[in-house]
Amino acid sequence: MSSSTPIQAPVALITGGAHGLGQATCMALAQRNVNLVIADIDATAAQETAVVCRQSGVVVHCLQTDLASAEGPSDMINEALAVCERLDILVNNAAYAIAEPFLDMTANEWDRVYALNIRAVALATAAAGRMMCQQGSGRIINITSPASRMALPNYTAYAASKAAVDAITRAGALAMAANGVRVNSVAPGMMDTALQDKSERELLAIEGRDDLNTYLDERTARIPVGHRISTADVAAAVVYLALDASEYVTAERLNISGGLDRD
Ligand SMILES: NC(=O)c1ccc[n+]([C@@H]2O[C@H](COP(=O)([O-])OP(=O)(O)OC[C@H]3O[C@@H](n4cnc5c(N)ncnc54)[C@H](O)[C@@H]3O)[C@@H](O)[C@H]2O)c1
Repeated sequence: MSSSTPIQAPVALITGGAHGLGQATCMALAQRNVNLVIADIDATAAQETAVVCRQSGVVVHCLQTDLASAEGPSDMINEALAVCERLDILVNNAAYAIAEPFLDMTANEWDRVYALNIRAVALATAAAGRMMCQQGSGRIINITSPASRMALPNYTAYAASKAAVDAITRAGALAMAANGVRVNSVAPGMMDTALQDKSERELLAIEGRDDLNTYLDERTARIPVGHRISTADVAAAVVYLALDASEYVTAERLNISGGLDRD
């Protein structure tokens, strides 16, 4: 925790804000003058992201949190409120991915995916939502994936976890609609992050391939627009839902996947 100074301006909490899409979202929100709480298991990288964001003139707190623990999500919200006194935006971004052949799936990996990708999203949404409902306003954005609607026999736990995120988004939106809180999601296409790199290397091995660059080129060629997307471009979609979308937008899923997801 960097300080206990109360913050009066709008505050956003981004889970997994130290790297990848979460980091890009922190930087984009900072450029829109939103104060930040960066919640991540990687405290060192969170502080590095905070240094960059503070260059935009905003106040940034860092929380080291393991969202896969049972109490992690509610502790995170309580700690954020203790330092900021308000919370206007929650971005449920942190996630874990594992590729396993369907017939060889393991309880250990299912538990890891469930704890971070599903339970933490649900409990952080509820904990922040209780305060936002009292406040009469708030925007929650969950990061889902085109995978949630695909048949992916080597990536089932991850895909199923994102289908659960879609269910949490819809349920949370209805639970809080009358209290001024909006709950939406963003479904990004392929971004070159640590999560994506780990997954693609695991899929390469499962599929018995060994030429990573050729494999990546083939996967990219299957994206209808023909290229991957930057974390900054996806972050702009998160910022849109957090700051610019009509208050009438709730229970919505914004696909920014280059045509991978066409629903
Ligand atoms: N990369 C892609 O192509 C892609 C595509 C679709 C959806 N997504 C989704 O985008 C979101 C961001 O993914 P990314 O690709 O930027 O991943 P990433 O691996 O770059 O970042 C994940 C962040 O979560 C943090 N984290 C991991 N475990 C944690 C824990 N237990 N507690 C707290 N923080 C933890 C990590 O330290 C890291 O900062 C995820 O929800 C992911 O499922 C990614």
